[in-house]
Amino acid sequence: MRKIGLLLFAFVLLGCEAKKVEIPLLIYDMQDAYMFDFEEKIQGAMGDDFVLTTVDGQNSQIIQNEDIDNWINEKFPLLIVNPVDRLSVYSIIEKAKKSGTKIIFFNREPLAQDMALYDSVYYVGADAAESARIQAQIIMELFGNNPQLNEFDKNGDGIIQAVILKGEQGHQDAEARTKVVVETLSEAGYKVEVLDIGIANFDRQTAKIAMDGLIATHGKNIEVVISNNDAMALGAIESLSDKGYFVDTNKDGKIDRTSEVWIPVVGIDGLDIAMEQIESGFLYGTVFNDSQNMAEAIVELANLLINGEDVSDLGFTITNGKYIWISYKKITNQ
Ligand code: GAL
Repeated sequence: MRKIGLLLFAFVLLGCEAKKVEIPLLIYDMQDAYMFDFEEKIQGAMGDDFVLTTVDGQNSQIIQNEDIDNWINEKFPLLIVNPVDRLSVYSIIEKAKKSGTKIIFFNREPLAQDMALYDSVYYVGADAAESARIQAQIIMELFGNNPQLNEFDKNGDGIIQAVILKGEQGHQDAEARTKVVVETLSEAGYKVEVLDIGIANFDRQTAKIAMDGLIATHGKNIEVVISNNDAMALGAIESLSDKGYFVDTNKDGKIDRTSEVWIPVVGIDGLDIAMEQIESGFLYGTVFNDSQNMAEAIVELANLLINGEDVSDLGFTITNGKYIWISYKKITNQ
């Protein structure tokens, strides 16, 4: 009798297991520091209701398309997709529409005309222009909130000489951040001279090499390094440290801004490792790109979609029935 009871219990358990819906989570490239952390946050927020299967696109749209085709052919109800090439998701949306597969895109925003092709397609992200405006505020604070500038205008010409480290060309964040940070400063009355823009694909090592080149060309003329993200800012700091632009004289692992040599570098994302560098005085400031809140929005939306519930019940504001925008926040230790 006891054996039958146990068998029944195991049977019920197995039955419950079988009912768990599997949701593929496609990340454009797990080598990307911010996305690596973002993936963990989505997994953490998901809880036990679904099985979330992470797939690494390895920065190849061809690889990602093959994965997506398989999931769609197997009639998975929902895909969560961080596309490799945000400009070419048209065919993915068309296929999903035919099979009735719902899609939540995040972090790499598809074109509005592609989003309009299908009702059951959503985007969770942050407004890149907002991050640039906040980054510009950090730079204004550095220069004393005064368009006439302060001692950080090293050559005293009343103009901010900047270099910009730009992320991947065509990425909505890289394009908007690069443009809007300068526009915001100009609109507030600051004169800015962009000495150069180094393209470093959001990547630390690429940025270190790019910064080596920027230093070789512009050296002491650089007054501030504006980076589209933290990973590149940290690469720049490595390069600048190697070349004597940060000097930790007393070797305590920190930069004392009142007595040691340093140069302002600002990032975006708020990675843990960047926060440590703000604490230790190497990174001047960053803008928090709130992946925790985005992860929670994605999971909440996934729950509603899988259960066929109304998306207007979402605990986050949904714009135009499809978009969930999460705000950025400023971080400095001033
Ligand atoms: C941005 C982020 C970058 C990079 C990129 C990937 O939002 O700031 O660090 O991760 O997304 O799409």
